[in-house]
Amino acid sequence: MTHFPIDLISSWDRFHRGHFINSLSGFKPVSLIATVGPDGVSNLGVFSNIVHLGADPALVGFVNRPREAAPHTIRNIEAGRYYTINHIHPDFLDRAHQTSAKYPDGVSEFAAVGLGEEWKAGFPVPFVEGSPVQYALELAEVMPIPLNGTYFVIGRILHVFVDERIVGSDGLIDLYEAGSMVSLGLDAYGTVMPHARFAYAKPDRPAARV
Ligand SMILES: Cc1cc2nc3c(=O)[nH]c(=O)nc-3n(C[C@H](O)[C@H](O)[C@H](O)COP(=O)(O)O)c2cc1C
Repeated sequence: MTHFPIDLISSWDRFHRGHFINSLSGFKPVSLIATVGPDGVSNLGVFSNIVHLGADPALVGFVNRPREAAPHTIRNIEAGRYYTINHIHPDFLDRAHQTSAKYPDGVSEFAAVGLGEEWKAGFPVPFVEGSPVQYALELAEVMPIPLNGTYFVIGRILHVFVDERIVGSDGLIDLYEAGSMVSLGLDAYGTVMPHARFAYAKPDRPAARV
């Protein structure tokens, strides 16, 4: 294997370094986060640093870059407290990726890229039309990370929308069948093939595939 010490990595140009370091944490659960601004204009952006924090209470967190780089989503969540997370399907990947462009304040990425707003459940923020897995959250906490100026935004799940035919008898959502995409690095996307499932692991018996 080739050894890449951090001194070498730090000497690369920022995009090369970004691609390389971003790949290390692995394939990521890429989604579109929708919000509505204080001016009533909806906002949509691609986010991949999304993490499950716990099932009871049902909490999901995501990392928001520094405000200078990604100002709108975090501002809208702090002001309005509600947001939706929408899985990306290959059918609308190009439009989804385009939402990562820096559109000016007051421009809705929904309209700019041609994605439909789906309003439902009396929720004050739209979902993304055509997204196979959609969920709605209420802000629980914004944790600033002074180390690099990012924020960890934690939300409580309030509503989930998914075709019940892809919810297994044990509750697992078949994201392979849904076509939910993953991302790699800053701009690469893929779909996932199922590989294996296991019985609950116990120290006194070998791993058992089911
Ligand atoms: C594949 C991909 C993943 C991204 N993941 C994140 C992320 O996890 N956090 C983040 O703040 N920005 C992320 N971005 C950048 C945002 O999509 C971009 O800054 C967007 O304009 C959001 O800005 P806004 O909040 O001002 O609307 C990602 C972009 C791409 C293409």
